[in-house]
Amino acid sequence: MRKKVIAGNWKMNNDISQSINLVKGIKSILQSTKADVIVCPPYTSLSTVQQLVNGSFIKLGAQDVSVQNDGAYTGEISLSMLKAVGCEYVIVGHSERRQYHKETNELINTKAKKVLGGGLTPIICIGETLDEREKGITDQILTTQTKGVLAGLTSSEVEKSIVAYEPVWAIGTGKTATPQQADDAHKLIRKVISQLYSWATAEKVIIQYGGSVKPDNAKELLSQPNIDGALVGGACLKADSFAAIINAA
Ligand code: PGA
Repeated sequence: MRKKVIAGNWKMNNDISQSINLVKGIKSILQSTKADVIVCPPYTSLSTVQQLVNGSFIKLGAQDVSVQNDGAYTGEISLSMLKAVGCEYVIVGHSERRQYHKETNELINTKAKKVLGGGLTPIICIGETLDEREKGITDQILTTQTKGVLAGLTSSEVEKSIVAYEPVWAIGTGKTATPQQADDAHKLIRKVISQLYSWATAEKVIIQYGGSVKPDNAKELLSQPNIDGALVGGACLKADSFAAIINAA
């Protein structure tokens, strides 16, 4: 049985004092959880949040990483910096990085390899746009993305990775994929992984759903057979709603 993994992507929200309040809020509501819980604050809050979550059920993740090791790359953050601050997870290829920073499957694949090479777990995001869904090419897009982002990974690396299916049209829009739509997409992604590797490998990969996950839809989404967790944006910014989603898992 795959464990449920709930990750909160804070995006560009929460300065240091707001970050402290949010983490303290989550810890005051939940003492332990059945699901694995990850918070991904902005870089400036990682160190502070690490001190608050250290030794607790909450694990630390970053929202992105550089493909470079060090040097003259203004504004970039390296994997060794993320490791040193206590990150265990790194989101790569979020649709906002694809959209605003023109990240490609190839670059995301390089980042995923970097993260795995450093012993951390990548949360690798894929998902179709509204236009692609309306054109009826969702399966084709998800197949291409899955193959692209996983290219060259060994089966044990893939088994360690988390894939996040996030339909772009559902992110921050309040429009959620129906549990059936999401489960169908997850089933397809798992099938592609099984063709690239094996069923045994595909069965081990955690596939999260992301896109307007809220306390009131989390339970139904998370009870689908192929949905192993959630990558939560907006609803993770309030301790009570994030805790409710964690409890739904
Ligand atoms: P949302 O964001 O929950 O606000 O839709 C999800 C995400 O972008 O990971």
